[in-house]
Amino acid sequence: MTERDTSQRKSSLDVSPEAFAQISSGAVSLVQEYFAHIAERPVRAPNHAGKTLAQIETELGNEGVPLEKLFDECRTVLDLSRHNGHPRFFGYVASPATPIGAFSDLIASALNANITCWRSGPAGTEIERMVVQWLGSLIRYDDNAQGLLTSGGSMANMIALLIAARRTTGVSTASTGLWQSGPPLTIYASSEIHMSIPKAADILGLGRDHVRTVECDAELRLDPAHLRQLIEQDLRDGFRPSCVVASAGTVATGIVDPLTEIADIAREFKLWFHVDGAYGAPGVLDPGKKDLFAGLERADSVSLDPHKWLYVPVDAGCLLFRDEAAARAAFSTDDADYIKVHGHIDDEAFAFWDYGVELSRRFRALKVWLTLRYYGRRRIAAAISDDIALAHYLTEIVAAADDLELLAPAELSICCFRYVPPHLKTQLAGDTDLTALNKHLDQLNEHIMSLVQTGGLAYLSNANVKGRFALRVCITNFRTTRNDIERTVEIVREAGRKLSSE
Ligand SMILES: Cc1ncc(COP(=O)(O)O)c(C=O)c1O
Repeated sequence: MTERDTSQRKSSLDVSPEAFAQISSGAVSLVQEYFAHIAERPVRAPNHAGKTLAQIETELGNEGVPLEKLFDECRTVLDLSRHNGHPRFFGYVASPATPIGAFSDLIASALNANITCWRSGPAGTEIERMVVQWLGSLIRYDDNAQGLLTSGGSMANMIALLIAARRTTGVSTASTGLWQSGPPLTIYASSEIHMSIPKAADILGLGRDHVRTVECDAELRLDPAHLRQLIEQDLRDGFRPSCVVASAGTVATGIVDPLTEIADIAREFKLWFHVDGAYGAPGVLDPGKKDLFAGLERADSVSLDPHKWLYVPVDAGCLLFRDEAAARAAFSTDDADYIKVHGHIDDEAFAFWDYGVELSRRFRALKVWLTLRYYGRRRIAAAISDDIALAHYLTEIVAAADDLELLAPAELSICCFRYVPPHLKTQLAGDTDLTALNKHLDQLNEHIMSLVQTGGLAYLSNANVKGRFALRVCITNFRTTRNDIERTVEIVREAGRKLSSE
């Protein structure tokens, strides 16, 4: 260590070693306290719009504020948040943060590397490329996958669609708009696809209505025969089929599409085969679920979100692919002098901007790397298997109950069901017109969901399952126990009884 240069600038932002120690210990105690008592909090504190701002100072003053006051205000922010780390948080697909994940973000922010390319973040770039390769191998896609970490599944899906479209047109980079390069491109995905796919088609100028909706079978899996029909019809009508998107874990019910059959059709018609495994791909780590994912290895690209089911804090999405030349053809550009990498060769000239949208990128790989290394493959896989087992346990409880109805069984770790007052359950089994009854049950369950969410004891979301309003429990939470599942069922029942007696 060289001696500190005492002539250095005395910045208005410097802090003394004592102040530094206070910031560190204050922040660490806040995090420790949060994790230690998370299960005792309401999943969602009683809240209304404006309550947070009413409880903190909202004027930006000229002078700084004492640290104790800032940490007090942070406590208010924690108190008034919704806690996806609570053991009875089942809404959406959100892994709780682990301590190693949370502190990884601290380290990444302290380093503050901007992972645009190797030159800008040499260590971070090498770690990210290694982590991407690990993720490809972890989900049994490819041991040498390439790709990049993204803000999440939506961004990964959008990047995949652009790569696919540019490959179909054969026209590289931005000189020609996708819509100007010949007949309109078409994309194929099931009615259960995540909304980020039509949204990406819109953003890329392909048009939402050029995402063809493939019908699903009774179990909500994409129907390959209908996929083939749609492609053939589009070819007859002069469109250019570009890409088929399959789900490895749909957002509503967690269904995995028949990947092998879809891969065959994609190959036959020379379509890019993208698998949206943003939520479900890590499910392959459960030995009982492995076979569902057969065919994933044939995808041209796969989205997978470590922040969904690999217990990494947001944000951490990932797009994996094999054909890195196709990605480069879609994104690399010579338009700007300031991004030219001078004097570097091969790996040192590597740039993530050649693979995606973002230029400035935080060091997301650090938390993925440390989480995977800290726990190891075995402990991560065990947590995923436990989540799946809990969803199956809930399915059993629902199937055996006289006041609940299973709307979609748990393929992975999502269970969709609804409350049905016992006196109405027998009517459901009859062959009369059920339209009015279903409408009533849709409304009742919507109110149940709201009551449960505001009650703070559990948090579940909703899904539309074949036109029915379903209560959706998604378990990607390593704190959840069987007891939490039983309590949640009771919480739903209590809300159901209360609302149906009103
Ligand atoms: C299957 C699927 N794909 C994509 C996404 C979008 O991911 P993100 O919210 O990280 O953008 C989700 C989000 O829930 C999802 O479940």
